[in-house]
Amino acid sequence: MNKLIHIDEERKQFKLDGGSASYIMKVLDSGRLYHLYFGRQLPDDDYSFLVDTAPHSSIEAIEEEGSWVSENCMRMEYPVFGRADKKETALEIQFPDGSNVLTLRYKSYKTYEGTLGIEGLPAAYSIEKGDSETLEILLSDDDAAIDVYLYYTVWRDISVICRHAKIVNKGESPVKIKRALSAVLDLPDRDYIMTTNCGAWASERRIERHELFSGVQGIYSRRGNSSHAHNPFIVLQKKNTDENSGDAYGAVLCYSGSYEMFCDTDPYGMTRLTAGINHDCFEWILDSGESFETPEAELAFSHEGLNGLSQNFHTLMRDHICRGKYKNERRPVLLNTWEGCYFNFNEDTIENIANSAKELGIELLVVDDGWFGHRNGDNSSLGDWYPNSEKLPGGVESLGKKVHAQGLKFGIWFEPEMISPDSDLYRAHPEWTLCVKGKPISQGRNQYVLDMSRQDVQDYLYDCIAETINKGGIDYIKWDYNRNFAEVGSELLPPERQGEVSHRFILGLYSLLERLNKDFPDVLFESCSGGGGRFDAGMLYYMPQTWASDDTDAIKRLEIQYGTSIVYPMSCMSAHISVVPNHQTGRSVAFKTRKDVAFTGSFGFELDPTKLSESDRREAKEATEEYIASGDLFVNGTYYRIANPKDDGYGAWMFLSKDGNTARVTYATIDHSIEGPVPRLRIPGLDDKAKYRDEERGRTYSGAYLKYAGLLTDIPGDRGTVVYNLKKVKE
Ligand code: DGJ
Repeated sequence: MNKLIHIDEERKQFKLDGGSASYIMKVLDSGRLYHLYFGRQLPDDDYSFLVDTAPHSSIEAIEEEGSWVSENCMRMEYPVFGRADKKETALEIQFPDGSNVLTLRYKSYKTYEGTLGIEGLPAAYSIEKGDSETLEILLSDDDAAIDVYLYYTVWRDISVICRHAKIVNKGESPVKIKRALSAVLDLPDRDYIMTTNCGAWASERRIERHELFSGVQGIYSRRGNSSHAHNPFIVLQKKNTDENSGDAYGAVLCYSGSYEMFCDTDPYGMTRLTAGINHDCFEWILDSGESFETPEAELAFSHEGLNGLSQNFHTLMRDHICRGKYKNERRPVLLNTWEGCYFNFNEDTIENIANSAKELGIELLVVDDGWFGHRNGDNSSLGDWYPNSEKLPGGVESLGKKVHAQGLKFGIWFEPEMISPDSDLYRAHPEWTLCVKGKPISQGRNQYVLDMSRQDVQDYLYDCIAETINKGGIDYIKWDYNRNFAEVGSELLPPERQGEVSHRFILGLYSLLERLNKDFPDVLFESCSGGGGRFDAGMLYYMPQTWASDDTDAIKRLEIQYGTSIVYPMSCMSAHISVVPNHQTGRSVAFKTRKDVAFTGSFGFELDPTKLSESDRREAKEATEEYIASGDLFVNGTYYRIANPKDDGYGAWMFLSKDGNTARVTYATIDHSIEGPVPRLRIPGLDDKAKYRDEERGRTYSGAYLKYAGLLTDIPGDRGTVVYNLKKVKE
């Protein structure tokens, strides 16, 4: 097997070749680590001429490679704060004398087969020998006694570089890390369209595109979670890049807390992309001899447009970030009680629902919020994780037995990181709440946030969840999180360490999840945060699927699911059929539309099946059978976006089986205009020379026709869907 990491010892050049991309850097004479190139794969060669040594007037210069160069214009792998580089930087350390000047110089490198992992944090992992290699580069400031290890994992078949850094204090006194980002990518140009996303509750991941302007632009969260507002990814594409051709870069952060991702473009035509923990919400005291590891950032490149970029991310997330027995499996078709019952149910109601769900072929019944403490609304009992004795007199044992007796798997809802002021837990342990001493605590959805940095809090939650799993024979947990941080402080930490609380919260959450994953490997965990407020790679490492949004309206979902697909594989995104009129938008669309849109993700229902009409029940049963029959295509097939519902006015997408023999194309109208042209769907990913048969319509097309002329769509009317199942004709 050929090596992925190519090192030119003499020139101190490092070249990482993965997928169809190369990532190249070089150690300059001064020992600085310079970024040379990230893009389409290049042959091994000397790329030193890519070092830009042109001095720029009025910028502070340093001597480099025999000439004076402007530090602010150098393309650095891990730029530091406190020097002449005045763009966004990766690392800022404050020393005991108050200074913050750091000069990192190259010391050594090591290579490893596969991946190394990050202590206490999620990270992409190798699944077989030879699929990846990791380069470790050590940079040091000997005067300041700081070592910085930079890690780069390169993948054989994926054009993604996974990066993170480790900072070590070799000095005798503690230092304060004020900023430690995961990665910086310095690009030599700035004519990019930046794609980010903007969202809110019930309206997540709406794609926004802007041309880069001079200055700092980007996205961030200071909310304690990756947030509804901006999902932690940025895409930079060239102006002529479309879904299927052209260059695009993507950066994703594998982290679930407050983060920042910026593009800083300078007057000299360069773009710096940064990604890491939000430095406004972060400080870390690093004692003598201690080290700190950043979360992982994943940088992707594609010359095959946005679909190519997304497919790289999809493979990384599905195969190398998600874990557990379900990651490549079709998930059980589930029925969640939330929109069907909200807080109003008891053991009998659930038993009836289970009975009815079973008749529809549903495989997993999930009891959502309201089963515990004395919770009959959203104003109490979070933290009191014992069954509500009025609703469930026999506890989860009895309910679990009844659900299992129907031949269904049994799932339950938790919101572990929260505490209601009206709860036994709060009355017993007010000090377990995230707060700043002496200051009022803000409420969100009538609740406070638990201090997950505390071991006693993690242990309490572990015990409650483990006991419920054991007693109820729980097969699935929906892990919700319904408010943002406001006042952030921990009673256990000294004043000088209060800046560590946000990150320690996430470390505490990850540690609890790791323990639960390890002890309950058969339980399927689904992450949720008031819908999709914490839909990120970090959570996917512990829970292989996330509830995309509380908006279950199929038309609204077209845009949310389109935005989600930029980075996340469809198998990781839950999508359910709910009733009409829709509870969030009041809109009514046909059952078929709701089904075809929900088939994009991990499929289920969000309704009370005992209240469905006979015809809806028939359609629900057929939908379940159809999904189960095609499950592998949805989970492991390659996903292509064909249309953007916002710009094109309709949705269209395709799943193509791994062997390329089966394609399922879905076309969804929003507001069909009778005078408008009938869309032609140009279907990417097919083999030009092959023929594809649409059995249902009795038609056979050439791959070239479908790709270049386009499939003339049927007209399903407003808010309708058409599905084309295409089979490659055997030669
Ligand atoms: C928010 C989730 O997104 C919903 O699906 C539901 O579980 C509610 N919380 C329950 O409170």
